[in-house]
Amino acid sequence: MRCRRVPYAAISPILDVMKAFVGLKWVRVGAFALVLIGVAALVTKDQWDWFFEPDDAQTTGVSAPTIDDVGDSERLYRISPGADSSVTYTVQERLAGTSKSASGTTDVLAGDIVVNLEDPSLSRVGTIVVNVEMFESDSRLRDKRIRHDFLESTHFPFATFEMTEVEGLPDAATDGRPSALTITGDLTLKETTAPVTFTGQATMDEDKLSATMSTTLLMSEFDIGPINIAGLVHTSNEIEMDFVLEADRVALDSAAPDESELAVAPSLPEHGEGNFSEGVQPILEARCVSCHTTVDGPGSSTWALDTAGDAAEIAEDIALVTQSRYMPPWPASDMSLKFEHDYSLTGEQVTTIAQWAESGGGLDVPPDTKLEAGDDLFEPIQRDQVVPPADPYIGSLDRPDDYRCQVHEIADPEGNGTWLKGIAFEPDATEIVHHSIIYRVPESGRAEVERLDGADGSPGWTCFGLSNLQSPGVGSIGGWAPGQQPTVYPDGVGLYLAPGDLIVNQIHYHYDDSTPPDSSELVFDTISEAEISASGETMRSIRGRSYLTPAEGPCTPEEVGPLCDRDAVLDDIDQKYGGVARYIPNFVLGRCGGTVDDYDDLDGSVFYSACELPAGDFGKLRSVLGHMHEFGKAYRMTLNPGTPDERILLDIPTWSFEWQLYYVPTEDITIKPGDSYLFECWWDRSLVYMEEPRYITWNEGTVDEMCFSGVSVVPEK
Ligand code: HEC
Repeated sequence: MRCRRVPYAAISPILDVMKAFVGLKWVRVGAFALVLIGVAALVTKDQWDWFFEPDDAQTTGVSAPTIDDVGDSERLYRISPGADSSVTYTVQERLAGTSKSASGTTDVLAGDIVVNLEDPSLSRVGTIVVNVEMFESDSRLRDKRIRHDFLESTHFPFATFEMTEVEGLPDAATDGRPSALTITGDLTLKETTAPVTFTGQATMDEDKLSATMSTTLLMSEFDIGPINIAGLVHTSNEIEMDFVLEADRVALDSAAPDESELAVAPSLPEHGEGNFSEGVQPILEARCVSCHTTVDGPGSSTWALDTAGDAAEIAEDIALVTQSRYMPPWPASDMSLKFEHDYSLTGEQVTTIAQWAESGGGLDVPPDTKLEAGDDLFEPIQRDQVVPPADPYIGSLDRPDDYRCQVHEIADPEGNGTWLKGIAFEPDATEIVHHSIIYRVPESGRAEVERLDGADGSPGWTCFGLSNLQSPGVGSIGGWAPGQQPTVYPDGVGLYLAPGDLIVNQIHYHYDDSTPPDSSELVFDTISEAEISASGETMRSIRGRSYLTPAEGPCTPEEVGPLCDRDAVLDDIDQKYGGVARYIPNFVLGRCGGTVDDYDDLDGSVFYSACELPAGDFGKLRSVLGHMHEFGKAYRMTLNPGTPDERILLDIPTWSFEWQLYYVPTEDITIKPGDSYLFECWWDRSLVYMEEPRYITWNEGTVDEMCFSGVSVVPEK
C-alpha cells in the first residue's frame, strides 16, 4: 500500500477546520460525549424499528391456493398447517464470542401436491405458503428479533415457493419407494423473489406423501441479514432451510379448505418452580428494572421487565446477556479505573442468575409479582433551564437522513454570563431522533446564526457533519445517543457561557415512512456568574480535548473489489462528503507520525491501531471516552505507557456501538505536563457485513471507522 503524501499547500486552507475538528480550539469542551458519533452513525436505522412493533405474532395461520384440475389417474396430497409438516432454518450464530448453530421451526404451512401415477413427469406442486411469523426457536428474544428486525414478518408474514422444475422423478410411480429429487423454483421472502434449488427425497403411499427437502440461501440475497445485533450476535450469511412435508391424501372432490386462515395457537410460556425471589429478584430490581420498565425505560421496547413472569419467560437469555456482560450495558472492564455510577454486575451476581437459569428459571412467586426499580443508576440533573425548540421541527421524507441545527438561548438576566453545571438532551420523537451534538457558539457568531436560521422556511438549518458555522470558536459541549445520560459536573466546576453566547443543537433525524414533529429539549443546570461572585465562590472551567488515532483496515485476501483500493475509497469519501473529508485519514496518520504501511496490517479480519500523544490539558482527570463505529472490537486508553507510572484509564474488551458512555473516574488522577496517552483500537472486518468489500479508513460513514478519544480535566485552582 502506498502512502500518498498530501502537499502542505493542499491542506493549509482546511487546517483551520481541522484544528477545530481536532479540538485545539475547543477550550471549553465539557462533555465530549459523542462528538462525532452522529456523523459516524448513519446507523442502520432498522436496528431501532422493532422498538415500536408489537411483541407477538400478528398472523397465526396460513392458506394456500388449491389445485382443482386433478385427473382420474392422479392423486391429490395436501399439506395442512399444524400437522406434521415443518420448515426449519438453521444459521451459524456467533454470540458474545462463542459460535453455535441456531434454528427455528414453523409448522404453519400449506400447499397442494398432485402426483400423476401414469406419467410422474406430469406431477405438480402448487404454491407452498409458509407462515414465517410463527418461526419458533429456543429463544423468545431471537424469535422477536427475527419477526421485527430481519424477516420483518409482522409486515411480510408469508414466504411462498413456486416450483418451476423437478428432476429425478421415476418413470413409474411406485408406492413406498423413495425418489431422490431436485426441485427448482422461485422463493419469495420478505420482498425479494429469487430462484432456489432444493434437494432431498420423497416417498408416497396411498394416503400420504412424505418429503424432506433442503437448500442453503444467502440472507443478503433476500435482504434479511446477515444479522448483527448491537455487537452481541452475528450470524453467517448462509442460512439452511429444511422442509419436512407430510401431505395427506385428499379426495379429488373434497372441498377446498376454508380460504379463511387456518390459525394455529402460538405456544404460551410456562413457568416452573425455582429459586427466584431471594437471589435473582434483588439483582434485577437493582440493575435492570429502571431501564426495562414499560413506564419509561430506555430498554423497555426491546424487552419489558415489569413482573417476575417477564423474567422467567426468557431466563436463559437473561443468563446469556449478563454472562456476556452485554447487560447491564457497562462496557468498561475491571482493568479500567474505578468509575462513578458503575452499575455492572459482580461475578457473584452473574453466577446467581446463571444458576437460576440453568435450574430451569422457575419462580417461587406468582408470575404477576411486580418488580420494583432500585435506586437511580444515574445522577439526575437539576432542571434549572429546560429549553425546547422555538417550534417543533418537521422534516421531509426526501431527506431520510436529516441533520438539523437549531439555535437556543440560555437566560442570562444579569448579563454577565452563565455557568453550565449540567447538560442533558431529552429526545421527544424517539423513533426518528438518532443523536444530538450540542455546540457553544460565541456571541461573534450570532450574525451568521441569524442569517441561516429559518432561511429555508423551517426552523434551524441543515448541518451535515458539524454545525455548518464558519464563525471561529464554535465547539462541542455535549451530546446524546441512545444510552447517554445527563452530564453533571462536580461542585465548583462548570462550563462558562459568556454574555450573548448561543447554544446550537444538531439533531440527526432518520425517517423511514413518516416525519412526526419533534420537540426534543435541552436541559441545563445553571448558575449565573453574578450569583457566583456574590457568593464569593470561584468556578473552574472544565477543559476537554479529543485525540485522533488512525484507522486503516485493508480488505482480507479473500475480499476483492474496486473499493479494496485505498485511493478509490478516498475518492468515494470525497464524493459523499466533499470538503476536507478525503484528507482526514492522511492527516490523522501524519499526527501520529506514521504512514499507511505502519497501520494497515491485518490479523485474520482484525486490524489494530495505536498512537501515543502528549497530554494537552492538565489537572484532575474528569472523564474519558472512546469512540469507534460498528467494526469496533476493543478499545484501550493508557496513561504514561511503558513508564513506572503506567496506568490503564479505560479498557473496553468488547466494543459496543450502542453504549458509548463517557466514564468519570472516582480516583484522583492528576494529568501533568509531560504525561502522554496511548490510544489503542481494535476492529474486526467481519463484525459488519459489507455488500461490497471496502478498504476501511478514518471517516464519517458507517462503512468508515474512527479511533477517537476524549479526555477532560479540571484544572488546578
Ligand atoms: C442503562 C439502561 C439498561 C440497563 C441498566 C439494562 N438494560 Fe437491558 N437493554 C437496554 C437497552 C436500551 C436495550 C436495547 C438496545 C440494545 O439492544 O442494545 C436493552 C436490551 C436488553 C435485552 C434484549 C437483547 C436483545 O438482543 O434483544 C435484554 C434481554 C436485556 N436488555 C436484559 C437486561 C438485564 C437482564 C439487565 C440487568 C442485569 C439489563 N438489561 C439492564 C437498556 C438497559
